[in-house]
Amino acid sequence: MRRATLDDAPELGFVAPVAYAEAYGYLWQRPQAYLNHLQTFGEHSFRKVLPSAHMRVWVAVVDDRIAGFLSMNLASTDPIRHAPNGAGLPRIYLLSQTRGMKLGRKLFDRALRSAETAGKAYLWLDVMTSADWAFKTYLDWGFLEVGRRFFGGGVRPELAEMIVMARPIKGT
Ligand SMILES: CC(C)(COP(=O)(O)OP(=O)(O)OC[C@H]1O[C@@H](n2cnc3c(N)ncnc32)[C@H](O)[C@@H]1OP(=O)(O)O)[C@@H](O)C(=O)NCCC(=O)NCCS
Repeated sequence: MRRATLDDAPELGFVAPVAYAEAYGYLWQRPQAYLNHLQTFGEHSFRKVLPSAHMRVWVAVVDDRIAGFLSMNLASTDPIRHAPNGAGLPRIYLLSQTRGMKLGRKLFDRALRSAETAGKAYLWLDVMTSADWAFKTYLDWGFLEVGRRFFGGGVRPELAEMIVMARPIKGT
């Protein structure tokens, strides 16, 4: 587990789309919309995100290879309550071969401590309603549902609903 650097962009740029596709390919019908979304996980995107002052990215490393990542936005407000001083976790993705290793929890703990050090009041994220495994994981991590919204990226309409979740940082 370590903080990602710009040098990680090429490796992240192929691991991240694979990890996304393994878990969420079923959401998509139109190839073009799917490919556009996968591109947001590519090297070019990481090259923009990694140097950004309010973004943090950590990688899970297994046998010297990146097996997944978590990104955090320290300047992000939850879209339901609009509560001040929040940090968002827009992306947490691990390769399916690493399930059961609790790497996600370890990445999350890094983000939590970093948000605490930055003086943030809460963390928020959203999860596709159909991704019951991720929803349960986030409940285990102390998140609670604060509302629902729809993913606008062009997924199958019947699968577009997302659950927005948040958890306080203080006292953890
Ligand atoms: C959600 C996630 C970050 C949690 O990581 P973690 O703390 O290391 O926990 P695990 O990988 O062991 O997953 C927790 C549980 O979800 C299950 N799970 C994870 N991904 C799954 C998937 N795509 N389909 C079905 N079940 C899945 C695991 O089998 C595990 O079940 P168990 O508790 O009964 O053993 C990680 O599972 C992951 O990256 N999943 C795929 C991508 C994803 O869904 N990201 C979240 C986007 S909102």
